[in-house]
Amino acid sequence: MGVLDGRLAGKTALVTGGSRGIGRGIAERLGREGARVGVHYGTNEAAAKDTVAAIEAAGGSAFAVGQELGVPGDAAELWRAFDAHADGLDILVNNAGIGTSQPFATIGDEEYDRIFAVNTKAPFFLAQLGAERLRDGGRIINVSTGLSRAAAMPDLIAYAMSKGALDVFTRYLSKVLGPRGITVNAVAPGIVDTDINAAWLRGNEEAWAGAAAMAALGGVGTPPEIADVVAFLASEDARWVTGDWIDATGGSLT
Ligand SMILES: NC(=O)c1ccc[n+]([C@@H]2O[C@H](COP(=O)([O-])OP(=O)(O)OC[C@H]3O[C@@H](n4cnc5c(N)ncnc54)[C@H](OP(=O)(O)O)[C@@H]3O)[C@@H](O)[C@H]2O)c1
Repeated sequence: MGVLDGRLAGKTALVTGGSRGIGRGIAERLGREGARVGVHYGTNEAAAKDTVAAIEAAGGSAFAVGQELGVPGDAAELWRAFDAHADGLDILVNNAGIGTSQPFATIGDEEYDRIFAVNTKAPFFLAQLGAERLRDGGRIINVSTGLSRAAAMPDLIAYAMSKGALDVFTRYLSKVLGPRGITVNAVAPGIVDTDINAAWLRGNEEAWAGAAAMAALGGVGTPPEIADVVAFLASEDARWVTGDWIDATGGSLT
């Protein structure tokens, strides 16, 4: 598939966790829209290179940027690496995240801090330092989860809390950056078939059927279904949408 209608031609994007799963879907979609895409990864450089190659093969332009998130100085280091490839930014997609399922009684200090460091603190500082690079009229899109609003699932308590904080951040940041015409929104996937769910979902017919039954539309989500929503928010068509939380769960919250 070649470059689409070029809605994002001339724009530069950074997709954290763009190397795999939902982030890869987003990176590929923004690339097809004509944006030059920074494909961020944490440890798996080969996956990032593969995503860059896929974007280029489709007629787009991309580069890989590696940086572990959830460690001190992560945002500053990531932007330093990004600056070596690009002069300014139009679209920041805070997608990288970790999801741990663990009973409340067993969550320790370190696990709690880690999940908030990756899912909440990193997007906060990536946006803060990214705002200096973002051109007026830019976009910040945070990948949240339907779980921040769904009926509570007890073992996902820390994960859902970290994303709930990201949702509040999204709303507040839209006020901070609104005067510059920068929109800030969150997209909330339901269950999506990615590596994060591989252990319990893939190859487990019962689990798959249960997950599929949660969506009003039926089925388990795929990265392109989330990426299409992100592409809309990144586009000029969404210029009057900000501070919002977009349900991309296939109706799992209805
Ligand atoms: N899949 C779902 O069902 C689902 C549902 C709702 C929300 N979400 C959210 O969607 C986002 C993407 O999820 P996914 O399912 O696509 O995940 P995934 O398949 O596990 O991919 C995660 C991506 O994030 C990067 N990453 C993870 N931890 C990192 C860290 N500490 N430092 C740097 N990079 C890191 C990974 O890079 P490396 O491989 O290089 O480490 C990879 O590119 C997450 O924020 C997740 O919470 C997912």
